Amino acid sequence: LENAVGRKPALGYNTWNAFGISIDEDIVKATAQRMIDLGLRDAGYVYLNVDDAWSEPVRVDGKLIGNRATFPSGIKALADYVHSKGLKFGIYSDAGSHTCAGFPGSRGYEAVDAQTWADWGVDYLKYDNCFAPASDWIVDRYVAMRDALNETDRPVLYSLCEWGVADPWLWAPEVGNSWRTTEDIEPTWSSILKILDYSTGLARFAGPGHFGDLDMLEVGNGELTLGEQRAHFALWALFKSPLLIGADLRTIHPDSLAILKAREVIAINQDELGVAGDLIWQQGASRVYAAPLAGGGRAVVLLNLHTPGGQYVVSNISVSWEELGLPAGTPAAVRDLYATADLGTFTDSFTAEVTAHDVRVVRIVPLGGLKHDSWRPW
Ligand code: DGJ
Repeated sequence: LENAVGRKPALGYNTWNAFGISIDEDIVKATAQRMIDLGLRDAGYVYLNVDDAWSEPVRVDGKLIGNRATFPSGIKALADYVHSKGLKFGIYSDAGSHTCAGFPGSRGYEAVDAQTWADWGVDYLKYDNCFAPASDWIVDRYVAMRDALNETDRPVLYSLCEWGVADPWLWAPEVGNSWRTTEDIEPTWSSILKILDYSTGLARFAGPGHFGDLDMLEVGNGELTLGEQRAHFALWALFKSPLLIGADLRTIHPDSLAILKAREVIAINQDELGVAGDLIWQQGASRVYAAPLAGGGRAVVLLNLHTPGGQYVVSNISVSWEELGLPAGTPAAVRDLYATADLGTFTDSFTAEVTAHDVRVVRIVPLGGLKHDSWRPW
């Protein structure tokens, strides 16, 4: 969607994965403070988004208002607070009669709700897909809110949460700034792989202003190992998904925090070119994902799918210049982006040891730059 925001994938926080419907204004305020204290705001995470269950169970005078018990100061005051911390404020609604948790939805109230949010200073809208009549055409419901948002004079990043139904890559790029590629994420390796595989092949439909959303991050949640968290974060970054933190920032483990703050991995996600990465090679349990970067570089994620503790604890995984659209013999600097370490100059291919359920993330930059670079991972 061309609306002056969302030219890069959104970086921020969303309350759902950590708190579900058990949210209140104190949690949101504490999260804002933690985003600052933990250095996440300075790392680029600027959106603080409240998910489902923030409103009163019924409209008041036809309008949405904050839940009187859990958000007693009101949403405008909360948005002001979040803004005073140098962050942007996001809210949630639904393109049906109710939200998934049963609060009022915005279908039929698009104009009044869009104006309410503009009056509150909302910067981001996540728009869910529960309780919609089957007779409605999904595109109409999402277009109705796009047009209502456009009618207000406030630029709002419009995040479609249509769960990947109705082939969103075909219509959502003109309707929203991001579109979900799948159903909901869970903090398990199988969920992460499932979303990854569903999202493979969709890179060509993403770009500045209309990115595929692989769902909110589970880094720091559940039983994911650090290797799995590294893989999850790097692949979401490479695919140019919005990166919305979903862990409780009051208790997050320092190792998970370090993954979320990996500056050079975040930089792949925020690269000026805005081309999503995709799968470029696989054999057995080894996979190579890659994306072009502005200036002729390549971002590469080498993924080892072997089961940890099994026979193949470590695999050597290679990527050739040919697979990356680089002329053979081109000297290129290779840098490990989690380790923030230069690995040397290579001329035809690069090989690394990758641990099971883990990744190596590298940037490969041709030393002399590249003329006429139009390589894409599809
Ligand atoms: C379904 C969405 O996909 C989730 O991300 C979350 O917003 C819940 N609904 C909230 O009810």
